[in-house]
Amino acid sequence: MSSSFSPLAIFLLLLLVRYTCEAREPFACDPKNGGTKKMAFCKVSLAIAERVKDLIGRLTLEEKVRLLVNNAAAVPRLGMKGYEWWSEALHGVSNLGPAVKFNAQFPAATSFPQVITTAASFNASLWEAIGQVVSDEARAMYNGGTAGLTYWSPNVNIFRDPRWGRGQETPGEDPVLAGTYAATYVRGLQGTHANRLKVAACCKHFTAYDLDNWNGMDRFHFNAQVSKQDIEDTFDVPFKMCVSEGKVASVMCSYNQVNGVPTCADPNLLKKTVRGLWQLDGYIVSDCDSVGVFYDNQHYTPTPEEAAADAIKAGLDLDCGPFLAVHTQNAVKKGLLSEADVNGALVNTLTVQMRLGMFDGEPTAHPYGHLGPKDVCKPAHQELALEAARQGIVLLKNTGPVLPLSSQLHRTVAVIGPNSKATITMIGNYAGVACGYTNPLQGIGRYARTVHQLGCQNVACKNDKLFGPAINAARQADATVLVMGLDQSIEAETVDRTGLLLPGRQPDLVSKVAAASKGPTILVLMSGGPVDITFAKNNPRIVGILWAGYPGQAGGAAIADILFGTANPGGKLPVTWYPEEYLTKLPMTNMAMRATKSAGYPGRTYRFYNGPVVYPFGHGLTYTHFVHTLASAPTVVSVPLNGHRRANVTNISNRAIRVTHARCDKLSITLQVDIKNVGSRDGTHTLLVFSAPPAGFGHWALEKQLVAFEKVHVPAKGQHRVGVNIHVCKLLSVVDRSGIRRIPLGEHSFNIGDVKHSVSLQAAALGIIKS
Ligand SMILES: *[C@@H]1O[C@H](CO)[C@@H](O)[C@H](O)[C@H]1NC(C)=O
Ligand SMILES: *[C@@H]1O[C@H](CO)[C@@H](O)[C@H](O)[C@H]1NC(C)=O
Ligand SMILES: *[C@@H]1O[C@H](CO)[C@@H](O)[C@H](O)[C@H]1NC(C)=O
Repeated sequence: MSSSFSPLAIFLLLLLVRYTCEAREPFACDPKNGGTKKMAFCKVSLAIAERVKDLIGRLTLEEKVRLLVNNAAAVPRLGMKGYEWWSEALHGVSNLGPAVKFNAQFPAATSFPQVITTAASFNASLWEAIGQVVSDEARAMYNGGTAGLTYWSPNVNIFRDPRWGRGQETPGEDPVLAGTYAATYVRGLQGTHANRLKVAACCKHFTAYDLDNWNGMDRFHFNAQVSKQDIEDTFDVPFKMCVSEGKVASVMCSYNQVNGVPTCADPNLLKKTVRGLWQLDGYIVSDCDSVGVFYDNQHYTPTPEEAAADAIKAGLDLDCGPFLAVHTQNAVKKGLLSEADVNGALVNTLTVQMRLGMFDGEPTAHPYGHLGPKDVCKPAHQELALEAARQGIVLLKNTGPVLPLSSQLHRTVAVIGPNSKATITMIGNYAGVACGYTNPLQGIGRYARTVHQLGCQNVACKNDKLFGPAINAARQADATVLVMGLDQSIEAETVDRTGLLLPGRQPDLVSKVAAASKGPTILVLMSGGPVDITFAKNNPRIVGILWAGYPGQAGGAAIADILFGTANPGGKLPVTWYPEEYLTKLPMTNMAMRATKSAGYPGRTYRFYNGPVVYPFGHGLTYTHFVHTLASAPTVVSVPLNGHRRANVTNISNRAIRVTHARCDKLSITLQVDIKNVGSRDGTHTLLVFSAPPAGFGHWALEKQLVAFEKVHVPAKGQHRVGVNIHVCKLLSVVDRSGIRRIPLGEHSFNIGDVKHSVSLQAAALGIIKS
């Protein structure tokens, strides 16, 4: 080693020191800039609306159109820097968007489980807590100059078809689950201050976007034919909840068309629904590059100027992509669009930037200005990533019960399978750089001596070359854990699945290892979408099956904690696990949710499909046993009508009252449920409350729907009372063929675990209401 530094080395070192200590300079309204200090848009004491108006009044049309795109240009004349709007934080700060860069100062961020796993926890406080941690890390990286403040997460499209490659990013197939996830994760990210945003979240992709590339059809060309009924009672629900309950600062429109109109050019969807009905306080952004896609790929308009004009007039405020920056000025010149329309878009984007504090001068003066490198990947954050994985893992099968394993009995464990040493596979897509990984082999190694064999080279498992050593390992070990499943080569953005079975020779490996193993064989699956593992479910030699989803950076530790019982599983499947044959009955392109028995169309999701399943939505076992009893519940509830209308109950339309005709405000049903842990271990119970509407509503009805869920910890032999509040208009209504939400009168049945109960809904004054 040399003891003297060359001048070049010293120079580089100084550069590095300067670089790593650099904090972000103000985006605008730099206190050192005497020119802008006195301008109204920089005055923190003024109302945001006033500041935005002032700023827009100072901008030229040329400057304005360059602010309509994700890489918004600087306006040096007004002391405004350029801004990259595109950041992602689906389950941790991700570098998928160009605004986020990991560097020496910020080498990584906490990588939480993929959303489908986190959803399986059915724990809304967990979702909010994750959002809080992610936004701490995002703010810290923003302060360090290496991330943005506008995050295009979460993805709350309904996981409609089990083949969808991006289903892993979503909270699953149920609208209420997805909407609750959306609202709570968004609250965690944005904070709850009325006029100040910690970061700005975005619910995407609006709407009916859930096909990437299937059988020759891709998302850039797909025209989703969706009924008004399905829009209202399935596809819109999570977005509506995200906007009205989560107060999200942004909604993203999708690539696909809905009923012949590109979503980013549809004023009914954007202006009328999202901004009008739901009252979005924020901006609407296109998917990247949706406007270009509907012009170039879908040929929706004859000229690019018309495409730009259509998008902005429909309610689009920001284009991810260059299209609007290039064509908007000409669109105005041609009279297709007015400058006032452009101003309308800027009001929405600039208001969000103001709420983020970007026009408030020094970032260090901001309430989150103190966050820095020490706040990223900190132990408490990494611990929450581990906890989230423990809460999300689902125990599908446990005969005996053989699980949990014991370090005394199972001293040697054969750990086999292509995902046994998974690292990036565990974080799924839209991930960042993890702080560090605990893979399943390492996790299990904390409890037992391990013997490791891959068995298959990778998840495709094209041949049986590595089977021999895997089978041998299982012959000798006290227990065998097979870590199998999928990864991004099988399901991903732009990659929909072609089947639901484990890929290649994986089933063969599992069966052969199970037949040979000396001790109990446990199958652990990593996947986003459901897997048809009927062969393993029916194989008596496979005594345990766990679904881990994509469990995040600490996934291997969580899997081991569950296998060895230091954590008691409480996760439930957020999607239906269909058998392979299901796929032959419906093309991915058919959007219909409801079954058409006469046409052999089976319907989609547990709400409308009642055919055979591998495991149903909501399935999940624990190491203890919970018993429910209903402590109190009403049997009759009257629905007060607002106004003076004749309710002719002999007519089916009148047997279901329009939600807009009912006094919905405080109209709810409260069920008091006692949950008793009759087992010998402490455990966490996921209470799922389903309801089914009265019979006789034909095409309006659904099999059942989730109306409430609650996560409760109950110690062994303990009991816990949960009060479940069910909003009648929101949750007990059904949607008619015209897309009108109605409350069916009559017996609604509730299912809470093993308890059944009916509540009869009656119009306030049964029959004829005085006119
Ligand atoms: C109620 O509806 C039925 C069937 O639609 C109709 O025959 C009857 O006349 C209606 N009664 C009143 C009071 O409107
Ligand atoms: C049932 O009532 C609705 C609403 O009052 C009405 O539009 C419809 O025509 C009625 N249907 C029958 C069969 O009377
Ligand atoms: C839900 O998650 C939070 C955050 O991890 C945790 O504190 C809480 O105990 C969980 N709830 C239950 C009932 O397990």
